Amino acid sequence: MKKIAMILLAVLMTLSLAACTSSNEPTGNDSNTGSSQNVMDNSQTEDNSMTPAETESQNKQSSETSDDDSAFEPGSESKDSKILVAYFSATNNTEGVAQKLADGLGADLYEIVPEQPYTDEDLDYGNSKSRSSVEMNDPGSRPVISGGISNMEQYDVVFIGYPIWWGEAPRIMSTFIESYDFSGKTLVAFCTSASSGFGSSDSALKSAASTATWLDGHRFSAGASAEDVLAWANGLEIN
Ligand SMILES: Cc1cc2nc3c(=O)[nH]c(=O)nc-3n(C[C@H](O)[C@H](O)[C@H](O)COP(=O)(O)O)c2cc1C
Repeated sequence: MKKIAMILLAVLMTLSLAACTSSNEPTGNDSNTGSSQNVMDNSQTEDNSMTPAETESQNKQSSETSDDDSAFEPGSESKDSKILVAYFSATNNTEGVAQKLADGLGADLYEIVPEQPYTDEDLDYGNSKSRSSVEMNDPGSRPVISGGISNMEQYDVVFIGYPIWWGEAPRIMSTFIESYDFSGKTLVAFCTSASSGFGSSDSALKSAASTATWLDGHRFSAGASAEDVLAWANGLEIN
């Protein structure tokens, strides 16, 4: 009887040991299940684990996404200014500078065209009776402009170009400045001349549009390079 009990005890211990071992190691089925689970896990691991390049790429994507999101937040629209370059040019020197300025800034370009074009005789500053001399001797002269700008309100910044005539802006520039409401806009004058500096050539214009913000103007030589023109314009830190 004692022998039988010993044998039963030995069988029970063997069975319980076997049960213990199977709970710590995969079974065949568990192994299969575990295997497919591992594949899923691996795939999850693969999905979640990224090489540094992939991480960088995903970070970039998410930062781009968040940048894009923030770009649509109210008030975060681009603050880029809409720029107009308006100019008068009797012999095309100022026109060249104006074109370089507009090209470089991506600005609109508008030529102030006199209704009555200036002839060579008109521009004869050696003749006190020439049209230009008569106009410049009369501060109230307002030569008429042909056409105009219907949508001036869309511009934030207006560059105003002209040739120096007797140290001043030609009177037609006063006609131009008095034709629009520049309140709240930023205005910048530029000119070309034979030798005179910018001086106070824009003072009459400033008085006529005193509610605008005027930045310091600049004089260029007739053949100013695009680099020179843009170096000046970019130094104004408009935008
Ligand atoms: C009527 C008249 C007056 C001028 N007065 C001056 C002047 O006071 N100082 C100067 O340096 N150049 C003077 N100039 C030369 C012009 O300013 C210069 O040639 C300018 O670049 C012309 O520009 P535009 O080709 O755009 O008209 C005068 C030219 C004219 C026709």
